Amino acid sequence: MKQDSKLFTPATIGPLTLRNRTIRAAAFESMCDGNVPTQKLFDYHTSVAAGGIGMTTIAYASVTRNGLSFEKQLWMRPEIVPALRRLTDAIHKEGAAASIQLGHCGNMSHSRIAGERPISASSGFNLYSPTLVRGMRTEEIEAMARSFGDAVRLAREAGFDAVEIHAGHGYLISQFLSPYTNHRKDQYGGSLENRMRFMRMVMHEVMEAAGNDLAVLVKTNMRDGFRGGIEIDEAMLIAQELERLGAHALVLSGGFVSRAPMYVMRGAMPIKCMTYYMKPWWLRWGVRMVGRFMIPTIPFREAYFLEDARRFRQAVKIPLVYVGGMVSRQKIDEVLDEGFEFVAMARALVAEPDFVNRMREGEERCSCDHVNYCIARMYSVDMVCHKCVKDLPCKLAREIEKIKCADSKR
Ligand SMILES: Cc1cc2nc3c(=O)[nH]c(=O)nc-3n(C[C@H](O)[C@H](O)[C@H](O)COP(=O)(O)O)c2cc1C
Repeated sequence: MKQDSKLFTPATIGPLTLRNRTIRAAAFESMCDGNVPTQKLFDYHTSVAAGGIGMTTIAYASVTRNGLSFEKQLWMRPEIVPALRRLTDAIHKEGAAASIQLGHCGNMSHSRIAGERPISASSGFNLYSPTLVRGMRTEEIEAMARSFGDAVRLAREAGFDAVEIHAGHGYLISQFLSPYTNHRKDQYGGSLENRMRFMRMVMHEVMEAAGNDLAVLVKTNMRDGFRGGIEIDEAMLIAQELERLGAHALVLSGGFVSRAPMYVMRGAMPIKCMTYYMKPWWLRWGVRMVGRFMIPTIPFREAYFLEDARRFRQAVKIPLVYVGGMVSRQKIDEVLDEGFEFVAMARALVAEPDFVNRMREGEERCSCDHVNYCIARMYSVDMVCHKCVKDLPCKLAREIEKIKCADSKR
């Protein structure tokens, strides 16, 4: 164990001080049946808080109904504030801070759940949902920015210490930023200046609603992960703009769910596991046929975003949260020594919610094997590691072994 490790020292994000340098990354739990928090969500986040994390992030809460893409996704509205308050109280009791990721799925929404045809920066067809998409009108864009502010006010009422605005991964803000999904001819499209306009409007509303006591993090892409998307030079200008707009910290990520999904997480998507849990027969059949081509493997390696993230460390002064492939104590210490104030982890804390405490006790590496079963399952059931599933069907266990074997040969 490194003697002068920063890992268990406190650090600040705007008005908030965390007890250590770890954050549970926003990772969709799929535990909000009826779009409200459930006991399962409560138990998972309390276990991460009890497991030593500095701050845990409730994932993927939509600011409006038309931003939902999953049945078990949170939708921010006054009725759920008391349940969220119970959750933040429990997290605080364990000594951790609580954050909530706020976003809108845009063209990844589903009309059955969202209540209307999915909206985005521009009209089109999204093969990944799959759905027709309607471009937003100017007055809808203005109202949407205000909805982000409203969601921040609800988060404060519910006792959160921080909000994380989702501006990456190809969701609504990212759909405005990326030339791949933004073909507008008005003041919201074309130049980067114009493509950032919606993000700027959102940030004005968010910072005003956050006031002086709520920390504001923004998850932003360093690259969209495919030719024709945002590349690092533009992404650095976006990061600098977010800093100028008052964001207290940036979570540096990458990828685009409707074009380069595995760029976010790396590794292979276990397609058999994914389709096994899917209910609609046509979706199951479709994903079985074309899943491998639509979700191509990108090899996993530890700290896979680090090279790009270093360039952002030079470009902005605000605290940076490194996320992507943090599995060992040694790498975590290295990343903190490079000037990143925090490390965020998703899969490590799905496999071991108490990984932070275990590191304190000397664990060097978490047991997550990055076969992405948790993601494949999350689409239809909930976010659980395959190691915690009793009686995993043989064919799924075989697929997992095959992925592990292919990984070990790389
Ligand atoms: C099951 C699962 C669900 C995820 N859902 C979200 C999400 O809702 N919002 C988000 O910004 N990122 C999401 N991610 C991405 C993670 O936050 C993180 O950026 C990525 O997994 C890389 O970190 P890791 O290597 O520590 O897992 C998800 C990841 C996983 C594994």
